[in-house]
Amino acid sequence: MAIKNHEGKKVVRRGGNNPSPYLRKKTPLLTTGIDWESKKVLDLGCGAGRNSKFLKTMGFKDVTSLDFFDDYGQRWLASDAIPAADSSKDIILCNYLFMFLADGELEKVFKEISRVAAGGCILIVEVMPIKTSLTPDDVKVAELKEKVLKSFESWHIGHIVKYRFMLEKSS
Ligand SMILES: C[S@@+](CC[C@H](N)C(=O)[O-])C[C@H]1O[C@@H](n2cnc3c(N)ncnc32)[C@H](O)[C@@H]1O
Repeated sequence: MAIKNHEGKKVVRRGGNNPSPYLRKKTPLLTTGIDWESKKVLDLGCGAGRNSKFLKTMGFKDVTSLDFFDDYGQRWLASDAIPAADSSKDIILCNYLFMFLADGELEKVFKEISRVAAGGCILIVEVMPIKTSLTPDDVKVAELKEKVLKSFESWHIGHIVKYRFMLEKSS
């Protein structure tokens, strides 16, 4: 991971093209049903785009990638609205994003995810303790995880292991 200073904010960037192992492992759950290739994917905090690229390689045709930096994705700040219509996204990725967001940004993103998620939407979240993040240790990351789960308590927990989980919005 590389740390960059951007507009007065310390941001951790993740290089490399290998997708998140958790995402790769869970791909069979995403590629089910008729016409799964047309599912609309949103990759929030996409970084250099490794997970977006992976899903495109898998066959997903509609992948929107957003990040503070616009070198791979479209520029988006967590305090902004997500540029997507209500109930329009079927899969939302939030891999290693939430640890970098302040409380106000988190609440905004949670609301926006709920707004743009279609019925049956799958949300994949990964968090981890990173020294340069706002949740640098295990205790804080555990609290963050609980905060996410509480915010999406009406969603079904499809899978959970430590700081990685999949939630599903009811149809
Ligand atoms: C550790 S990287 C993870 C990137 C990608 N999800 C992955 O798994 O490779 C965290 C990403 O969150 C983005 N980020 C951090 N704070 C942000 C903010 N306030 N708004 C939008 N993106 C932000 C950073 O630019 C960075 O690309």
